[in-house]
Amino acid sequence: MRTLLVSLFTLLCTAVATAQIDLSQPWKFKTGDLPAWADPAFDDRDWGMISPTKDWESQGFANYNGYAWYRFHFNLPSSMRDQSHLKDGLRLLLGKIDDVDMVFLNGKKIGQMGQFPSDPGGYATKWDVPRRYLLPVDDPALRWDAENVLSVRVYDGDGGGGFFGNDPKNLNMVDLSDFLSVDATSEPFVFADKKIRKKIFLENKFNRPIDGQYVVQVFENKKDQPTYEQKLDITLNAKERRSLDLDFPNLQRARVQIRFTEKITAAVLSAELETPYLLTPPESPRPRINNAEVYGARPGHLFLYTIAATGDRPMQYQAAKLPAGLRIDALTGIITGSTSERGIFSVTLSAANSLGTTSKIVNFVIGDNIALTPPMGWNSWNCWGLSVSDAKVRQSADALLKSGLANHGWNYMNIDDGWEALRDTVTGEILTNEKFPNMRGLADYLHSHGLKMGIYSSPGPFTCGGYTATWQHEEQDAMTWAKWGVDYLKYDWCSYGQIAPASPNLKEMQRPYRVMQAALAKTNRDIVYSLCQYGMGNVWEWGDQVGGNLWRTTGDITDTWESLEGIGFQQNISAPYAKSGHWNDPDMLIVGWVGWGDKLHQTRLTPSEQYTHISLWAMLSAPLLIGCDLARLDDFTKNLLSNDEVIAIDQDAAGKAGRLVKQDGDTQIWVKELNDGSRAVAIFNRNMADRNVTVNWAELGLKNYATVRDVWRQQDVGKFKKTLTTAVYGHGVVLLRVY
Ligand code: GAL
Repeated sequence: MRTLLVSLFTLLCTAVATAQIDLSQPWKFKTGDLPAWADPAFDDRDWGMISPTKDWESQGFANYNGYAWYRFHFNLPSSMRDQSHLKDGLRLLLGKIDDVDMVFLNGKKIGQMGQFPSDPGGYATKWDVPRRYLLPVDDPALRWDAENVLSVRVYDGDGGGGFFGNDPKNLNMVDLSDFLSVDATSEPFVFADKKIRKKIFLENKFNRPIDGQYVVQVFENKKDQPTYEQKLDITLNAKERRSLDLDFPNLQRARVQIRFTEKITAAVLSAELETPYLLTPPESPRPRINNAEVYGARPGHLFLYTIAATGDRPMQYQAAKLPAGLRIDALTGIITGSTSERGIFSVTLSAANSLGTTSKIVNFVIGDNIALTPPMGWNSWNCWGLSVSDAKVRQSADALLKSGLANHGWNYMNIDDGWEALRDTVTGEILTNEKFPNMRGLADYLHSHGLKMGIYSSPGPFTCGGYTATWQHEEQDAMTWAKWGVDYLKYDWCSYGQIAPASPNLKEMQRPYRVMQAALAKTNRDIVYSLCQYGMGNVWEWGDQVGGNLWRTTGDITDTWESLEGIGFQQNISAPYAKSGHWNDPDMLIVGWVGWGDKLHQTRLTPSEQYTHISLWAMLSAPLLIGCDLARLDDFTKNLLSNDEVIAIDQDAAGKAGRLVKQDGDTQIWVKELNDGSRAVAIFNRNMADRNVTVNWAELGLKNYATVRDVWRQQDVGKFKKTLTTAVYGHGVVLLRVY
């Protein structure tokens, strides 16, 4: 019956589908910039060909920044218009274009995204937005049943250039589905009374009602017949956003399929969700100290360290054998002061509540190196983008404390781009904009709660968001930040591309980072130094030499599997360079409520993909910077970020990054050597379908006989001779600690 239904849908869809113009085929291409190239009559026969799915760097134009044009010739059949349902307009999809584009159809400009350097306001990239342009069906630029030419003027400011990626690229008639959307991410899953609940929204942006059938099916793990089904005939009024409730028993990891089938065209809109499954066991009420085994600080600098302990409150803290000059607040567990003694101090930290006492030895290493384990905390960018404000930082800080996440070691509160104003016209000092009325006050607030504060700038004249940056004010800015109480600096290349030569050599690439290294060294604070230049010049090979405590190894991450997979699984190459105090940074976490602006949505990663994300970052010894609005922390995200055994793998004192040891099709096994002689073993399944995977200890270079612990579930699973076979969910992971 189900097969019949599916084939019926397909049939209906094919019956109404019209042929579209496929624009993912090679285009004509030429670097340079001439207005005549917009003219359809221009003779481009001697131009080369280029694929629009890969940047031009990878197609023979390495290191080319600047202008180039793409041209595409096609016939536009009137049958396409006549067979369509709405006969209203055409939709042009071009995918992502790095960085700016201006589109002409038969010589007429029909759209632009981003800003060219000569535009008012100057250059602005829109590299990560798939292009979508609409044209009315009676637009005089259209030539029905004749040859048409699309010409696209592209400007690339930096990095990859031109059309790229696998987003759809075509020209087609607008249909009803252009006006309909299913929103399954605006509200989180809520776990309540053995039930799982969520709101789904169907939206009709058209100015007439749309009829259709709404079907929700819930499939239990591995079953292909739905356990629950809901069907509704719905009329969505013009411009209506309808909220629909999902409400069914809490099945661990069920697949929820949502479909809306429009009545006239049978156009199907669908969304698929995986219900969250919680792996981290509930927190024990007894005290447990979760700090890493080492902590670095510089002599003579202000010291700030917080005992991160879970367990019932109230809690009392102690620290024995602290270096001279440091003291602990017994009620908060915050250690402050300043010590001039260099050396390794084995401090015994203890935490006590009504249920008992626990203690842990942590080595305070007072010397030149800081960030001895990867920084953990929060950064504003992946949630708030340029709309970050003092209030939003405080809300997330309050939530970090109130939710108990801080007790697991999450500590830095980093303000990314968007805090800056112009400079003081007399002193030249960088000023904060109206969203940050008192930066020193904000730092004091965070410090008083044992948290640290990070800030952001660029070595160029402007940040990536177009705000004032540090060029020619390096020492002054470092001093200002130190005065405010800053503990972390993310220093982002951005407009330094305009200062550096067109194809900078290694020395030129390192120069701005060395200048800031020297400026930071003159301050009296421990400021973690985070380089952000997207991996240029294999930064992992030299980031430590310019003082970097961490360095971004890639471009920006976003909340999709493609982005996560593309970045995360490429990190084997830089892994050997990670060491205590100097980390590879594959970018910030994309879990929880993200959005890069004012409007947030729930991450588009499935629960299994999020387990993969956190596990892989822990295996890589990557900095863990939560990129979501913590004031809206949902049950699943909190559980995901509170697993002390997973975090301990990331924070392991040996400081070695895990390596890819075995690859078999879509299965990858990574192994990380830990300080106590055990190994973390992560089995990743990059396929959509669940898999059974067998690991062979000998192949991983391990002993023949291994004692195994499931890290996410925090359970011993037993002893295994030679091999272990385990099920790994699609896009998921099994993370083990092997002794
Ligand atoms: C990008 C950087 C992002 C974010 C942004 C701010 O270059 O990679 O992480 O900091 O700039 O404008």
